[in-house]
Amino acid sequence: MANRYFENENHTKLYQKYRMTAPKALVQRVINYLKEKYSGELELAVDIGCGSGQNTYIVADYFKKVIGIDVSPNQIANAVKANERTNVEFQLGAAEKLNLPDGSVQLITAMAAVHWLDLPKFFEEGLRVLSPGGVMAVYSYFISFYEWPRDPTKNEAIKKFYEEIILEGELGQFWSEPIRKHIFTKYKNISIPYDDFTRDDTFRNERHMSLTGMLGEMQTFSGFQSLREAKGDEAAGDLLDRLKNGILEIIKDDLSPEESNLDEIYFEEKSPLFLLLARKPV
Ligand SMILES: C[S@@+](CC[C@H](N)C(=O)[O-])C[C@H]1O[C@@H](n2cnc3c(N)ncnc32)[C@H](O)[C@@H]1O
Repeated sequence: MANRYFENENHTKLYQKYRMTAPKALVQRVINYLKEKYSGELELAVDIGCGSGQNTYIVADYFKKVIGIDVSPNQIANAVKANERTNVEFQLGAAEKLNLPDGSVQLITAMAAVHWLDLPKFFEEGLRVLSPGGVMAVYSYFISFYEWPRDPTKNEAIKKFYEEIILEGELGQFWSEPIRKHIFTKYKNISIPYDDFTRDDTFRNERHMSLTGMLGEMQTFSGFQSLREAKGDEAAGDLLDRLKNGILEIIKDDLSPEESNLDEIYFEEKSPLFLLLARKPV
């Protein structure tokens, strides 16, 4: 039975559907930081590890042109297919060797991506392509809180159960070294070696999320993908069943007998973000 989760599955499509976009307020904070010392035109931004473009489109509201760059051909193919913006381009490429002229970029962003990179090389390459006063902004999120609007007294139980599923048990051992080193620690071990380095932990993303969405998002996590590769579809499906059944058990008293469609059981998902900022010397 567990296999049914993966019948029509395509990882990059799940990604496109369930991964969160960057909060507008966070991107505005990045733009304000850039404008503190850069007064020229906002010609070009690049979004590194763009995936299917969750962050790229938000940045595109501020720039003449934004290029989303990702090393995965599947991610780029899906991003290109869905792109309807005339000032957004997607390119296959590696963060550590960008196909861009020196000093041509005012902003480099990387959402939920920098932990996968060769950081010293990426920072060096960033310095090469940024214009003087140009900014690098890297940000991510980790564990979301799912609040249950029908009875907030159950939020603590949901949080405890969800964190146990993510961090302990079967999935716990499948988080890779970069995730443990950088995401578990909220990028506290990363410092961008440019001017005015600072961090800001005040932003969070909020969205309505169905139980189907919670299960879909789980399938996009690299730890989940590793578990599925190592143990197979059945073990991966069992984990999703445990998540689904555990959550349903907590909220069961609030559901009417005819409420069985997981697409229509909604939570408020809240995801704290961590943001690092620095600029190339003016
Ligand atoms: C967790 S996803 C984040 C995607 C998107 N930015 C988001 O916020 O959902 C990380 C992305 O980084 C990409 N990536 C990993 N190593 C990379 C590299 N060296 N250069 C460019 N992209 C890379 C992966 O292919 C993947 O799409």
